[in-house]
Amino acid sequence: MNEIYPVRPISNASATRTDGFNIDLRQQIRVLWRRRFLVFAVAGGVFIATWLFLMLLTPIYAGMASVMIDTRKTRVLDLKEVITTSQPQLTTVLSEVEVIRSRNVAERVAASLDLYKDPEFNPSLRPAKSGVAAALNSLMSWLSAPKQQDLGPEEAERAMRAGVVTTLVGRVTAVPVPQSMVINVSVRSEDAAKAAQLTNALAEQYVLDQLNSKFEATRSASVWLNQRLEDLRNAVAQSERAVAQYRGSSGLIDSKGVLPTHQQLAELNTQLIQTQGRRSELQAKVARLETLIRSNRGAEAADEMIESPLIQRLREQETTLMREISDMSTRYGDMHPKMIKGVAELNELRAKINVEISKLSQGIHNEYNVVRARESALLDRIRQLEGTVKEQNRSEVHLRELEREAQANRILYENFLSRFKETSEQEQVQQPDARIISRAVRPYSPAFPRKGLIQLAMTVVGLLLGTILALVLERLDNTFRTREELEDVTGLPAIGMIPFVDKKPVAKYLIDRPTSAFAEALRGLWISLCHSDPNSSPRVVAITSSFPGEGKSMTALSLARTVALLGSRVVLVDCDLRRSSVAKLLEIQPEHCLDDVLGGKVELRAAVLRDQSSDLDILPARNMDRAPLDMLNSAVMENLLHTLRGIYDLVILDCPPVIPVAEAQVLGRLADKTVFCVLWDQTPREAVVNALRQLRDVQVSLAGAMLTKVHLKKHARYGYGDIGYYYGRYKGYYAD
Ligand SMILES: Nc1ncnc2c1ncn2[C@@H]1O[C@H](COP(=O)(O)OP(=O)(O)OP(=O)(O)O)[C@@H](O)[C@H]1O
Ligand SMILES: [Mg+2]
Repeated sequence: MNEIYPVRPISNASATRTDGFNIDLRQQIRVLWRRRFLVFAVAGGVFIATWLFLMLLTPIYAGMASVMIDTRKTRVLDLKEVITTSQPQLTTVLSEVEVIRSRNVAERVAASLDLYKDPEFNPSLRPAKSGVAAALNSLMSWLSAPKQQDLGPEEAERAMRAGVVTTLVGRVTAVPVPQSMVINVSVRSEDAAKAAQLTNALAEQYVLDQLNSKFEATRSASVWLNQRLEDLRNAVAQSERAVAQYRGSSGLIDSKGVLPTHQQLAELNTQLIQTQGRRSELQAKVARLETLIRSNRGAEAADEMIESPLIQRLREQETTLMREISDMSTRYGDMHPKMIKGVAELNELRAKINVEISKLSQGIHNEYNVVRARESALLDRIRQLEGTVKEQNRSEVHLRELEREAQANRILYENFLSRFKETSEQEQVQQPDARIISRAVRPYSPAFPRKGLIQLAMTVVGLLLGTILALVLERLDNTFRTREELEDVTGLPAIGMIPFVDKKPVAKYLIDRPTSAFAEALRGLWISLCHSDPNSSPRVVAITSSFPGEGKSMTALSLARTVALLGSRVVLVDCDLRRSSVAKLLEIQPEHCLDDVLGGKVELRAAVLRDQSSDLDILPARNMDRAPLDMLNSAVMENLLHTLRGIYDLVILDCPPVIPVAEAQVLGRLADKTVFCVLWDQTPREAVVNALRQLRDVQVSLAGAMLTKVHLKKHARYGYGDIGYYYGRYKGYYAD
């Protein structure tokens, strides 16, 4: 067939992965569904605890106001730039946030609203509590800060005020609004109206604080400036006094930049030049005079040098006289009296002229001498003045220094004066940098606790906790519930799942309900067993488990009956010689048992009982006093089984459990196949592994493992996709 229709793989890798995920998810959901009561119980517990807790909490209200920091500063005095703008800076906003949350502002609020008398802020004013609350309170105060009993009244008052302010600070929230200069301010209180009042007071006090601090700053600046001005004023006065003094002492009296000494010197120089000119003139005259006089040419000198009107006149008289004499001489001769008289007059006249000339030349001489004396006097004076000027020049340098200093002091003083005037003006025109842009109104719902939100969140938390707990418990579950688990852990094929029967007696159930799921499961088990060995169906099947009470005997009996009902000759041998249970299950009291047969007391035929309902032969057992191992681990037992093989199609051995006793290992070796029972949702995995190891150690041939007493309804919730799962859906197939 495969050659004609090549078989395609059922799933590829990705499909497997997706399926794996889906199965995993489905399984998780089923786990939660199965453990839903746990999940809901945890969630409910958390819900109730939260509710109780929230009931105990005092609701806290929060007012909400907004303050904007104004970076535009009004400058009334600076006309060039009345309003300056600066970039909003995060640090500015954050600093203002700290200011809002500062104790300073809180103190102002506490003072303005008299919070010191408010029991909400001053715990000493709260009424004393009674009962548990009081005990809790005293415990809390004992645990908290050290007692303040030793404080004096003033100190205690201070401590109380500090405490009130601390409480208030703790209730202030200031949060900057991103990308803006706005700060949301909020104060919490147990009273809604008070919360709004406190918030508004805080915003107002913050704005006032700003105003005050600026005012303070300007005032201290103006005080400082005032002080500085006084100093400067003194410095200016002092330096100006120094200039005046020095000017006075050095004789440097200012006359529009020209010093008196310089002026005097210039005047003297002019005079000197004039005097020198005059002196040279007179000197030349005197020299000419002397030359002329020396050469007896005095008259000539007189004509030449002396421009005297008297001499002029005398000269004219002389000329006239000389002409007359000349006339007379020609007329009268020299001896004529007229002539003589004329000559005498002429001589007299000439003598007069000479006298006059000598007088005049004496005058020139005198003047010359005077001019010379003046010149030398001028020279002396000039030399003297020049010395003074040199001295004064030196003094002037120093004076200029003093003047410069005085000037600098004056400029400094004037600058300070104008700044001082500005600052004192500013004191009057103060504007706060922050303003309230939104005032707080009475909140109608508490800010804390947000009951609905907290309750919802805690319910979610509870559900999560429940879910985690459910999943953890599921993980911690160390039993078997599915065939897959069984196969994975044991490494054996899971050959059956026997449902739990809740109707009594269980043993009869198979007979009464041959089409029940229980009966169907047993038929399925038999088919699986038949195919456990590809070569031949097992003839001797041992049934065992890890511990007692796992349904071995019930499974053995039911399987034997099932096969017998199918028409085969089957014998069930109860090999549990310590806790025999087949007879008990069938509610019979056998006369002879296996040990009698093995002991040779009775024949096999005599000991075998017939189950009328299924035509099953049963070789029962009874509890023995001594250890049955040697009895079972014997040739007699082997022979018995050999005999049984000859008589029956199928021999089923109901064995004791593996872990407490060793018989199962012996019986397993005698059987063709051994079926290993695992109690559903009960037997621990380690026990199963250990028991199987013991069986494998003695080379027992295991047909497979099976789950017993499977609660189908519970199992269906796991949705493992096996019979249990489909039992719920396809119930109609079974007549339970
Ligand atoms: N499928 C079942 N449904 C309901 N009850 C069952 C089922 N199988 C067994 N029981 C009950 O479980 C109990 C123990 O069963 P059983 O005697 O078969 O176990 P066991 O493994 O043989 O125990 P022991 O090791 O003591 O012999 C009995 O009371 C039986 O009625
Ligand atoms: Mg038993």
